[in-house]
Amino acid sequence: MSTIININGKYYTKSNAKISVFDRGFLFGDSIFEVVRTYRRDKILALDMHLDRLYKSAEFISLKLKRKGYIEKIIRDTIKKGNNKESYVRLIITRGVSREIGMDPHYAVCPNYIVIVKNYRPPPANPHKRSVSAAIVSVKRNHKEALNPLIKSGNYLNNVLAHIDAMKRGGTEAIMVNSEGYIAEGTTFNVFMVKNGVYYTPPVDAGILDGITRKILLKLMKESNIKFLEKMITPSELLNADEVFFTSTLREIQPVVKINDRKIGNGVVGAYTVRLLEIFNKNLHRFLS
Ligand code: PDD
Repeated sequence: MSTIININGKYYTKSNAKISVFDRGFLFGDSIFEVVRTYRRDKILALDMHLDRLYKSAEFISLKLKRKGYIEKIIRDTIKKGNNKESYVRLIITRGVSREIGMDPHYAVCPNYIVIVKNYRPPPANPHKRSVSAAIVSVKRNHKEALNPLIKSGNYLNNVLAHIDAMKRGGTEAIMVNSEGYIAEGTTFNVFMVKNGVYYTPPVDAGILDGITRKILLKLMKESNIKFLEKMITPSELLNADEVFFTSTLREIQPVVKINDRKIGNGVVGAYTVRLLEIFNKNLHRFLS
C-alpha cells in the first residue's frame, strides 16, 4: 500500500513530490482536477465521463490539454505503480509555473500534469453504516456567472468555507444553496431527496457540478422506470423529505439521517436509498474499464 505521485511523467513519494510556489495552481487556484476511484484493483468507474468533464473544465478556463490517450496512460500507470488494493486517484492539471505574479495566463506556458494515487478504503457495504449528518450552511455556492460550479477547478475555497460553517453548526457535511436560495450541492457531492416515492435532485441549472455519479444514477433510474425529477428544491422541502442522500465518486450513495439537527424521515436509512444503492451495485460493471 503506498501513496505515489506522478508529476509530468516522473514518480515521487509523498515526501518528495514538490511543485513550484510560482505555479498558478498554487498562486490562484488556476487549475482543474478530477477524482476517480478503482474497483477490483485496477478498473476505473466511468473514466470516459470523467475525462469528458475534464476537457469541458479545460475549455471553460481556456486551457489546452494534451490528448486523452496521454492522460489515461498517466492515470493507469500511476495506479499500477501504487499497487494498492483499491486506489483513490486525483488528477490535477495546473496552468503551470508563472513567469510573473500576475493574472495574464500567458505568463505560464507549460501546464503541470499531476496524478496522486493513494490507498482507498471504499465505503462500508452496509448502507446503514454509511449514514452522515449535515447542515444547510449560510455560505452560498459560487454564482454560476462568477465561478461556474460546472468547472471542476482547483479553487475550492467556497467549499472549504462551507465546510467550516457546517462544523460550527454541529453538522459533519455542508449543503449549500445557490444565490436564489435553492439547494445546490454539497462541498464535494451532489444532493438527492425522496418524497412520496419520487426521487428529486436539483438540475444542473441550479449551479452545481455535473456529477458523474448523479448522471449514472439518473440513467439507471430512467432505465428501470423509476420516478425521478430534476427540479429546484427549497431548504424546507429538503428538511421535510422522507429520505436524503449524497452522491459522489468516493461516497457512491451516502444516506443522510439528520440535517440542521432535525431527523430526516424517521432518522434512519430509508428503503428508497437502499434500493438505489442495490441498483447501482448491480450495474457497476457496465461502467468499469
Ligand atoms: N468531488 N459536487 C462537487 C462540488 C464535487 O467536488 C463532486 C466530486 C461532486 C460529485 O461528483 P462525482 O459524482 O463526479 O464524483 C459534486 C470529488 C469526489 C472530490 O472532490 O473528492
